[in-house]
Amino acid sequence: MGSFLSTEKPYSQTRKRNRRDDEDNLRSQRVKCRRSDTGTPLSCPVSPSVSEEPFKLHSAKVGRFSLAAPRQRTDTGIPFVLPISPSLYEGPFPFAWHPVEVGHFSLDAQRCYCGDDHQLCYYAPPSSSIPFPRFDLLDGYHDRYVPWNEGLREGLGKVLKWIAQNNKQLQDKEKRQPLNVDYVTLRGHLTKVLTTPYETRQGWQLAVSLFCGTLYLSEIVPEAVRRQRKQCSERAKQQTYMGYKFEKYMCADTQNGTPDPSAVVNTHEAFCTVIQVQMGSHSLLFSAEVDCTDPQSPWPDPPGCYMELKTTRAMQSCAHRRNFYKYKMIKWWAQSFLSGVPRIVVGYRDDMDSVVELKTIKTASIPKTAKKLIGEEQNCWKAKVCMNFFVSFLDFVKKVVTTDDPKLVHLFEWEPEGPVSYTVHRDSEYTFLPEWYVKAIKRGQSVTSV
Ligand code: A3P
Ligand code: MG
Repeated sequence: MGSFLSTEKPYSQTRKRNRRDDEDNLRSQRVKCRRSDTGTPLSCPVSPSVSEEPFKLHSAKVGRFSLAAPRQRTDTGIPFVLPISPSLYEGPFPFAWHPVEVGHFSLDAQRCYCGDDHQLCYYAPPSSSIPFPRFDLLDGYHDRYVPWNEGLREGLGKVLKWIAQNNKQLQDKEKRQPLNVDYVTLRGHLTKVLTTPYETRQGWQLAVSLFCGTLYLSEIVPEAVRRQRKQCSERAKQQTYMGYKFEKYMCADTQNGTPDPSAVVNTHEAFCTVIQVQMGSHSLLFSAEVDCTDPQSPWPDPPGCYMELKTTRAMQSCAHRRNFYKYKMIKWWAQSFLSGVPRIVVGYRDDMDSVVELKTIKTASIPKTAKKLIGEEQNCWKAKVCMNFFVSFLDFVKKVVTTDDPKLVHLFEWEPEGPVSYTVHRDSEYTFLPEWYVKAIKRGQSVTSV
């Protein structure tokens, strides 16, 4: 029990759209806040009390009403904003329970849902007698590549399908709630929240609805961000391809098979694990794409046997390595930490875009290495700060979103250097829980044909 970060063993053991403010008919209520003083000293920054401490607020609007400074809360005592300054979240590592796999599913070449593990890949690295593998990461880029369809608006759709088909196992009979979890979401969304105290470039928007006692979190990707992604440079497209291609060199389709680098790289195919975890006082259920399982893993049970594969440029200097740990490793750590994936295999590529070295890194060792390389005086990121903020964000959402209605969306927004704030929307473009899902959960029956 307690922190599952402190161990070296795997955990199994130990975007901004133009807002459509419908002010005429007051369907959307809006709570728009300016920044809090990020340096405001809070006497007890450890979650869950952070969001209960006073924040300085200069001005705020609720619907048509302007509030004079300094107001920190609505009349019902609910805070308006959550500050993100790392100094506020320095307390001890919060309670967290090992991530547990409660199910899995596969997504095929057309991104269609299958309730099986046919897309699971098996880790099959080259023999250790080949220290410099020379994998050409651009091989097949022009003729054997199905890039991601940027038009897809998947949202929570796949994990909701899994829940609808397996809801019997998630029913909470005591609480008479259809799902015995506080939050349902995707790992990618949680990774963004977890790294927020140290993020300096990319903000986020998370739509939240409370339905039958469970909070659902779904990212809103603003149109401008979608456009940017479509217009990204040829080099950026190549870099995306290289990450997927690395998986083809390192994994086989069958347990005792060998990798087939001549295969088509289809970015829609995926094996997903469904993870349940306790963080602070919150239970979460989310899906996460898994790169592969290691048949030789000392921890045979998922998610301990899962491996994350990553590529990055080979590092030539200490400064390069420091920056890598400061900006990139925090994301790698957060992604694998959340889903209990204990090891990350890194393929270092040279200037010719060939992998020239492989290294396995233990997820649990990353924060310590970051501290050693970066040093506290250089504002090194800290896992406990990430986690305290994370739990405080979940506390904040739980306090704010109390009306059980799948058509009511609280849109939580964050831009670098500001606090997290939110706006409220009813029956709007932000509604994201599909009708079929709402009906299925209300009926309380497993749906096999969704
Ligand atoms: P690398 O991380 O090795 O670059 P994941 O590592 O999460 O399994 O994702 C596999 C690959 O998908 C990544 O490999 C990268 O190529 C691509 N990818 C993932 N997230 C991306 C993003 N936000 N933008 C561009 N490419 C991304
Ligand atoms: Mg990967």
